[in-house]
Amino acid sequence: MPPTKRVSLTQYLVEQQREHGHIPSQLRLLLEIVARACKTIAISVNKGALGEVLGSADTENVQGEVQKKLDVISNEVLIEANEWGGHLAAMASEEMDSIHVVPHRYPQGEYLLLFDPLDGSSNIDVNVSIGTIFSVLRKVGHHRGVSEEDFLQPGRAQAAAGYCVYGPQTTLVLTVGTGVAMFTLDRETGSWVLTANEVTIPADTKEFAINMSNLRHWAAPVRRYIDECLAGKEGPRGKDFNMRWVASMVADVHRILTRGGIFMYPWDQREPDKPGKLRLMYEANPMAFLVEQAGGLATNGRQRILDIVPTKLHERVSVMLGSKNEVQRVTEYHQAAD
Ligand code: AHG
Ligand code: MN
Ligand code: MN
Repeated sequence: MPPTKRVSLTQYLVEQQREHGHIPSQLRLLLEIVARACKTIAISVNKGALGEVLGSADTENVQGEVQKKLDVISNEVLIEANEWGGHLAAMASEEMDSIHVVPHRYPQGEYLLLFDPLDGSSNIDVNVSIGTIFSVLRKVGHHRGVSEEDFLQPGRAQAAAGYCVYGPQTTLVLTVGTGVAMFTLDRETGSWVLTANEVTIPADTKEFAINMSNLRHWAAPVRRYIDECLAGKEGPRGKDFNMRWVASMVADVHRILTRGGIFMYPWDQREPDKPGKLRLMYEANPMAFLVEQAGGLATNGRQRILDIVPTKLHERVSVMLGSKNEVQRVTEYHQAAD
């Protein structure tokens, strides 16, 4: 039998451009640079204690969270990798208060890049899967310069989105709006090899992901949904459910893209004015784009995530995403409660 032909990330992007004609060269360069930056981050992640990359950086980000060394390192890697290519106008990150405009010494490109450089920070020091999440927008209009307002576009305007999970394997998951593809890092050749294409999330599932320790703080529709899952075969759902919670959104979403499930990080009553824990623009939006491209759904309980018009860069949102019929059910429970 002849060896199976390997498709690299570059080849995938070139072929998508040929078939669908919507990956201009700047976007291709952008995606290749992000993928290369993820490789650099993967090397640091893998060094662990040997690379002095574990532990806290003793600084705080704009959200008031203590930054880990790897949060800071990953942010720097992504900024440095993306500054010079001429494909970007500006970047925004979970780890930076305001936007980072591409320095004047480089040409300004037409795209905007947002990222959560290191997702699942609480898992770094305990050697559990973590990741990088990114979202790509176009700078719309022909005005000179770039400001935070340019970023405030609904998620449905994303030109591309993806994440890289640093787990037992390093996997890059990508959408350019024509389905979801997965690439596994071949450490011997240093290349990203296409290992899954046209990924689809099963519409039904028996697996949910939620931080159960917050149960007493949830709103009634979320409690109802989880109570019914917990009631199992004897309950209204008539089937037993399983639970998983990695506490790295990247890893939980990766499992859902691989075998289905529902992920929720809902609003809770401890901070009623805060819509949720997760950030809309660089966590929820890119994941919602991927999930929808794989046939799933993503809502905040009431509204499609991708339709939310952001009012600020670090806006938070309640998140329910994954297998279509389950997300639809919990969304209906919210509508019934309204
Ligand atoms: P980050 O490390 O980028 O701040 O994100 C962590 C997020 C997300 O990845 C995960 O789903 C969630 O926080 C876990 O929260 P809990 O610790 O409350 O379970
Ligand atoms: Mn995160
Ligand atoms: Mn993070």
